[in-house]
Amino acid sequence: MKTIIVTGAGKGIGKEVALKLSESNLVYAISRDISNLNPSETLKPIRFDLSVDTHELIEVLAGEGMEKIDILINNAGALINKPFDQIEREELTYIYKVNLFAPFSLTQSALPYLKRSGHAHVVNIGSVGGVNGTSKFPGLSAYSSSKAALSCLSECLSEEYKGSISFNCLALGAVQTEMLEQAFPGYQAPISAEGMADYIVEFSLNGHKYMNGKTIMVSLSNP
Ligand SMILES: NC(=O)c1ccc[n+]([C@@H]2O[C@H](COP(=O)([O-])OP(=O)(O)OC[C@H]3O[C@@H](n4cnc5c(N)ncnc54)[C@H](OP(=O)(O)O)[C@@H]3O)[C@@H](O)[C@H]2O)c1
Repeated sequence: MKTIIVTGAGKGIGKEVALKLSESNLVYAISRDISNLNPSETLKPIRFDLSVDTHELIEVLAGEGMEKIDILINNAGALINKPFDQIEREELTYIYKVNLFAPFSLTQSALPYLKRSGHAHVVNIGSVGGVNGTSKFPGLSAYSSSKAALSCLSECLSEEYKGSISFNCLALGAVQTEMLEQAFPGYQAPISAEGMADYIVEFSLNGHKYMNGKTIMVSLSNP
């Protein structure tokens, strides 16, 4: 049985990923709102705000008896849809805290546990909008640039830890969730959160056997 952390597991894609993985693995499901997650032997919901210092989170998980981490899925994400010249410093900082600083710091403090796994896999959930050369949309400068940095971070760490921990980034296209509605009101995505979760689950369990340091676009449409 693998030990897995899924951030942003309270709703949307992360919730579906956590539920599926918990069918045969031990999953720590992190979100601020965990009211939609039913705790079980294999699903451990942990209430945590990732915009604050994430080093504390690993201490909380260690207190729960966590001994190793086989898979860390940095899925939590925040989005602001606002013209570039109206984005306040605090708004920019918040988006970067959730989308970049949290995966950065959480991975740092998870390292001793990832190393205990043998060959751990860190999966960062990026966005097609954060990939160079793809279509871009007004209002998403803070969000998309933070996802671009997350993609680059995955490449950097894959080099630094090659042979012991694999890092990949899944750059998602449009998936029907609250976040998509915030970014593109009224748009109907061609895939549900549950449908996308099938791919993420399979990739998290097996993708590191085939690739490391890759950003893969998982997209039927953008947006
Ligand atoms: N949906 C799409 O079309 C799409 C496209 C490209 C990429 N993505 C990426 O896919 C990932 C999942 O997005 P989604 O569409 O499922 O969005 P969502 O439905 O809005 O879910 C976002 C998740 O992140 C969590 N989260 C946000 N801020 C947090 C914080 N400060 N601390 C802890 N958890 C926090 C939320 O939980 P709480 O509110 O309970 O904290 C929620 O579980 C994100 O990284 C997103 O950028 C989505």
